[in-house]
Amino acid sequence: MNEKALNQVSWEKFSGMTPDERAPYFMEHGRTYHALVSQQFSRPILEDLCSLATCVRRIAKTREGSSFLQSRLFDKRAMLYFAQPSTRTYLSFDSACQTVGLDCMDVRDSSTSSEVKGESPEDTIRTFSSYTDLIIMRHPAGGFAERIAWMLSNTSRPVPVINAGSGKDQHPTQALLDIYTLERSFENIGGIDGKTVAFVGDLNRGRTARSLAGLLTKYDGVKIYFVAPPELQIGVDILAQLDAAKVPYEICHEFEQVIPDVDAIYMTRIQDEWDVDNESRLIDTSKFYFTKDHLSILKKDAVIMHPLPRRKEIDVAVDGDPRAVYWRQVRNGMWIRSALILSIFGLDDKVRGYCEENL
Ligand code: NCD
Repeated sequence: MNEKALNQVSWEKFSGMTPDERAPYFMEHGRTYHALVSQQFSRPILEDLCSLATCVRRIAKTREGSSFLQSRLFDKRAMLYFAQPSTRTYLSFDSACQTVGLDCMDVRDSSTSSEVKGESPEDTIRTFSSYTDLIIMRHPAGGFAERIAWMLSNTSRPVPVINAGSGKDQHPTQALLDIYTLERSFENIGGIDGKTVAFVGDLNRGRTARSLAGLLTKYDGVKIYFVAPPELQIGVDILAQLDAAKVPYEICHEFEQVIPDVDAIYMTRIQDEWDVDNESRLIDTSKFYFTKDHLSILKKDAVIMHPLPRRKEIDVAVDGDPRAVYWRQVRNGMWIRSALILSIFGLDDKVRGYCEENL
């Protein structure tokens, strides 16, 4: 990929680009510098990150290995800026930082920062960049993490930015952990290529489904079903990306008919925090729940996924089935985020070398 400098493009021009067109601006010296949109990750980068995550997971099993990992980034600091609620993503990044020895500071509530004194979020985050070497941020505004990366690239202290969830549009590191989970689940049955994936639930406002659907375009022979009530169907921007990548898809609303055909089911909750007037309560989503009875019609090698938190989309009685991998997704998130941070700081080779010599 031909790298491009983020400080050489105007915000107007940059923000009008497709996610694929933006990707070269997030690379530096041949590696990922910012992690902002899922589509920026090419197939080779995805494969490298997955194998590095497996290295980290294996190394972290021993005390010596943990201490090796923790001495990688002891001289660096990260800022966790979470302006939206989060349990898993926050803790996952916190654990990933601890795994690689990166000290963390956090702001989890904008009401405790100078934003209440009228400071712009841009200035607040520029302040963070003065103290830290990496910014990991979640924000309710779509595209905001990209705006910050662009803004910082025009300052004397640019630092990498990881998008930990932005508005309704993107959640790239969730897509990475989802890919890692799919890779691991399908490693003995040909990997992700050629598999059929169903996204179910609130696909219109669900950034996890949008980011993963965008990332699946990097695999060959994938087919996608989008299963949702009409009001919650996937956005036309994602469909345009699938069309451009020649990924076949079907829009449907009969969940049960799809179950026997798929290799992975990606369940999501209704994202009613975006409601203007409680309009979601008028939508009947109960036909889009995965119940214990559905297990008998699901392929034996298939997986059931969920970014969590869940409400009623997956019956807890399903949790004990070996095909239910949503709790594994949570743990995989920690490994792939550690791998991402290591590769941003150019430490992949050192970690792979340790793996080869010692394990
Ligand atoms: C999701 C999020 O916040 O986008 N959760 C997550 O990060 N694992 C999905 C959700 O809140 O429903």
